[in-house]
Amino acid sequence: MKKRILTGDNTTGRLHLGHYVGSLENRVKLQDSYETFVILADAHSLAYPKYIGQPDLISDSILQVAIDNLSVGLAPEKVTLFAESTVPEIYEIALLLSMLVPYPRILRNPTIKDEIREKELGDNYSMGFLNFPIMMASDILSVRADLVPVGEDQEPHLELTREIVRKFNSTYGEVFKEPEAMIGRVARLVGLDGSTKMTKSLNNAIFLSDDEKTVRQKVLKMYTDPNRLHPTDPGKVEGNPVFIYHDAFNDNKEEVEDLKKRYVVGRVGDVEVKERLIVAIEKFLAPIRERRAKYEADLDTVHGILIEGAKRTRKEAAETLNLVREKMKLPRF
Ligand code: TRP
Repeated sequence: MKKRILTGDNTTGRLHLGHYVGSLENRVKLQDSYETFVILADAHSLAYPKYIGQPDLISDSILQVAIDNLSVGLAPEKVTLFAESTVPEIYEIALLLSMLVPYPRILRNPTIKDEIREKELGDNYSMGFLNFPIMMASDILSVRADLVPVGEDQEPHLELTREIVRKFNSTYGEVFKEPEAMIGRVARLVGLDGSTKMTKSLNNAIFLSDDEKTVRQKVLKMYTDPNRLHPTDPGKVEGNPVFIYHDAFNDNKEEVEDLKKRYVVGRVGDVEVKERLIVAIEKFLAPIRERRAKYEADLDTVHGILIEGAKRTRKEAAETLNLVREKMKLPRF
């Protein structure tokens, strides 16, 4: 029997290159060897005060993010793609699991702390926000997944998931196995502005759905070596976002090495380095755009995929819920 993957994304806008190298790429690679579930975490997204009053954005994003996933090459006949809120068993499992999680444990979660700071939540985070790592555990455990391809920032949630598994199994009896995280080829892609993370909220991302003109404008505005004023100044390659992106997206390794060599001795300008990067990103995005256009012209098919996905996932989650209820001795009348 194939092992299982569950992974996914919040539905708070389109996916970008950071999502690709962090997780999407692994999903595509592993879709043949694992039984793969991809969650569009719409209920999760309500954890953020910013999205509470924007049901349209979340609802539109479900389709957008579904298409993002399909556009990078996930094949609908191989993977199960579903929206979290269409599998209510996940909520029920999450509530039961939440009884096993000490509240201070969530407050110590570094990703939760980062999010409170980065998203400037102040004191405005809800119970739902603090619950969302438990929801994520429930997403994963509902289908009893073995492996979770995610970006590095999600690792603390996987640790919590494993703790919940151990606590549940030792308290009530074996139901769950401990899932493992699989971190992407680039654990955390820097933003166009050189900040530590590409993220929609900092406006420093290239989206998988950006058109050619937008990609061009964004790359030409990218940060490079701040100390280099002229093309003849020796430049720095390490930590330079343009070269980080070359390493991540340019499959012409010889060209990248040549550019680096010339950059450190001041024999190539930033503009040329960026022009080459535009070519590389365009090459990477071309097949993605083609698949996107196909799905965008046929939204009925995408809806159909999500309806099937919900059915398939509900069956799995209902089985899990039954096991959980049995072990917890919750009655069946
Ligand atoms: N929280 C994840 C993110 O911000 C998205 C997500 C929700 C997820 N549920 C999941 C990822 C389950 C992996 C498994 O990217």
